[in-house]
Amino acid sequence: MCGIVGYTGNRQVTEVLLQGIRRLEYRGYDSAGIALLEDGNFRVIKSVGKVAGLVEKVGQNGHGSPGIKTGIAHTRWATHGAPTEANAHPHLDSQNNFAVVHNGIIENYSVLRDRLIKKGHKFLSETDSEVIPHLIQEFYQNDFASAVIQALQQIEGTYGIVVSSKNHPGQLIAARKGSPIVIGVGENEMIVASDIMAIVSYTAKVIYLNDGDVALINPNNVEIRNIHNVPVSRGTSTIDWDIRLVEKGGFEHFMLKEIHEQPESITNAVRGRLDHANGTAILSGLNMQPQDLVAIDRIIIAACGTSLHAGMIGKYYFEELAGILTEVEQAAEFRYRNPIVGVNTLALAISQSGETADTLAAIKEAKMKGAQVAAICNVVGSTIARETERGVYIHAGPEISVASTKAFTSQVAVLLMMALKLARSRRFTQQEGIILSNEIEMIPELIQKVIDRSKEIEKIAKKWSGAKDFFFIGRGYLYPAALEGALKLKEISYIHAEGYHAAELKHGPIALLDPSVPVVALANDVLGKDKTISNIQECKARKSPVIVTATEGDEGMKQLTDDVLWIPRTSKYLAPLPTVVALQLLAYYIAKERGCPIDHPRNLAKSVTVE
Ligand code: G6P
Repeated sequence: MCGIVGYTGNRQVTEVLLQGIRRLEYRGYDSAGIALLEDGNFRVIKSVGKVAGLVEKVGQNGHGSPGIKTGIAHTRWATHGAPTEANAHPHLDSQNNFAVVHNGIIENYSVLRDRLIKKGHKFLSETDSEVIPHLIQEFYQNDFASAVIQALQQIEGTYGIVVSSKNHPGQLIAARKGSPIVIGVGENEMIVASDIMAIVSYTAKVIYLNDGDVALINPNNVEIRNIHNVPVSRGTSTIDWDIRLVEKGGFEHFMLKEIHEQPESITNAVRGRLDHANGTAILSGLNMQPQDLVAIDRIIIAACGTSLHAGMIGKYYFEELAGILTEVEQAAEFRYRNPIVGVNTLALAISQSGETADTLAAIKEAKMKGAQVAAICNVVGSTIARETERGVYIHAGPEISVASTKAFTSQVAVLLMMALKLARSRRFTQQEGIILSNEIEMIPELIQKVIDRSKEIEKIAKKWSGAKDFFFIGRGYLYPAALEGALKLKEISYIHAEGYHAAELKHGPIALLDPSVPVVALANDVLGKDKTISNIQECKARKSPVIVTATEGDEGMKQLTDDVLWIPRTSKYLAPLPTVVALQLLAYYIAKERGCPIDHPRNLAKSVTVE
């Protein structure tokens, strides 16, 4: 969580920084701040709330004198200390020599703080981060880099930091341990940030820092050392994200734009990866020969949130198609319950951001226990992607809305391709492989058909937008889809929504049903439909309104229920994809009707880099 940006170069630094943190706002948005090095002193402006508030405040204070070249900025997701101006970053030392923005958690901050207070340092905030500039000041003897390195050696916990120094104008120091840092390399300018979203407008050339790296950044060069002050070398990479993808492009919200992008994002996930002639998938990033594929006897999927729901669908694919025992683990639980992992176990992390702390920790744990590790990620060069030796990028492009949509459908498409590849190495005939590979090719079209029904879905959403509670039920491949539908609704509309297995409803939640509690039942015409219809009857008998997803042409569903979200006919394998898109739209229009801040729901952050 938290977005950080630093800039040194010839541009109007204020604009670069403010645009940068606006792009990183999905990482946190409870307060924001900026520190500009101006005429040999720091000018610090902070505000509570979203970046827009800071932009206004900076505007009122003037954009700074010409010649400002260096600055740092931060958008916060509070961990230690409430979202107040005092707690907003950047933080400075008592002599105002160093300004620091920090993403992460300093675990030993209270010991360090007490020690520094005894030495006369004055603290102004309740944050853990404030110890960093004070420590740097404590070690400073005219060598900026050495002071930062010595300060970092004292710190336990995680950090991505950018430091600016009054005595070293034009220079920034960035460092990472557990929280991402990427440096955009321009022509006589450098922009350093938590991720490339803040960088793409200026340059496509980037350097990703590794854990333990400390970078000395000048407008025309970057020098990287390790935490022991020994030079290390890191290569540059080129990013291929189109700048248009990080703008709204005429849509009212990023979430709606990203829902609409799904036919294209899935096409990108699938492109060049299906070998129809041989009925298999080509996933070169997995880097596995047939004998490696056959050797896998168990798969453990570790993920959080929406990615966890994609993983649940993946389990069904791997077991049913490839016959491989698969478990899906909430990533935080996996790490702490001392899991049993063997050398033929494939531990598969699924993460849009590639930065989720629990997922990263789970994969490290699996690696330590001898498992082979792989990842399905969206963000190229992210920590999880780099931690795993094998993987598949979903190529969904930047996902900016906090509520994940297009990443989910692309993750599911990639999981299906992985299952196809594993199935072909085992029990699938060529003919079976060809049938499935042709089916995968149809996903974008199926999703487009649902998007084309947006108006109908909007009407239904408006009708039920006043409800206080919702249940979502489903079976088989539509069970994880029900969980995802409920998650989308609660995230963005703040309506209490629970996803349940349709059969499990009877074991408790049915006690909560009454005419004020709508049930969304996923009753597409696939395996399990008849039993779900019985569950719908049980809900109706308790006078709950029932909204269903049903297969186009299944007219009987209209009589049985209050409203129908029509889904094109699919096999059971593909059913969750268009169904979840309908539920994304339902949640979106309900939240819109309720006037919710859809792209930035309260208390949530897109990238959860704390445990
Ligand atoms: C946060 C986001 C969710 C996301 C989850 C996992 O909770 O708000 O949208 O599904 O993290 O994130 P990841 O990047 O690992 O997929």
